[in-house]
Amino acid sequence: MNLSQDTKNILGLQLPTDPRWVNLAEISLEAILTDHAYCEQKAATTCITLIQRYSDREQLVKSLAPIVTEEWGHFRLVLQELHKRGLKLGKQRKDLYVNKLIEFQQKGGSPEDRFLDHLLMMAMIEARSCERFKRLSEGLNDAYMAKFYRRFMESEAGHYTLFIELAETYLPKQKVRARWAEWLNHETEIMQDLEVRGDRIH
Ligand SMILES: [Fe+2]
Ligand SMILES: [Fe+2]
Repeated sequence: MNLSQDTKNILGLQLPTDPRWVNLAEISLEAILTDHAYCEQKAATTCITLIQRYSDREQLVKSLAPIVTEEWGHFRLVLQELHKRGLKLGKQRKDLYVNKLIEFQQKGGSPEDRFLDHLLMMAMIEARSCERFKRLSEGLNDAYMAKFYRRFMESEAGHYTLFIELAETYLPKQKVRARWAEWLNHETEIMQDLEVRGDRIH
């Protein structure tokens, strides 16, 4: 069994990241680290938004408050790597992948359904980040960077689990699982679509 199969089994992702994404020789480290830094920034920002929006849900606030610190810590670690190499944090690029996930979120429905989708979208992003960091840690020749990404991979795997667990804290497990299966299917379509368009995703 190869490692991508492992990831698929662990996270339920149906497609691995397009291997071209890890054709790292063609992508500058500055671009990889810049994209990565903004992923961490968005993760921290979204956790803050969830806390603001669902302040009445004690367990959620308690669980996500330290994640904000952790994600912002990740941002700082990435920034440190950029600066160490004399590289600069570039501009944030349009994130087609995340935009497509946002489109899938229920806009109508009950507040509970919207709450569930908010958590599952975060679980999805964490799962895919985990898989991408795994790719990076396996695809980078630099042993230091490989280790650097392995640490992130482990951390994001923990976050994926946390978002699913939070959903199951507030909603019936069966409902969470059924909707999660829909998210996984939809994400597969997004990945295929992005691959056809030849967009580099991150
Ligand atoms: Fe992170
Ligand atoms: Fe995370």
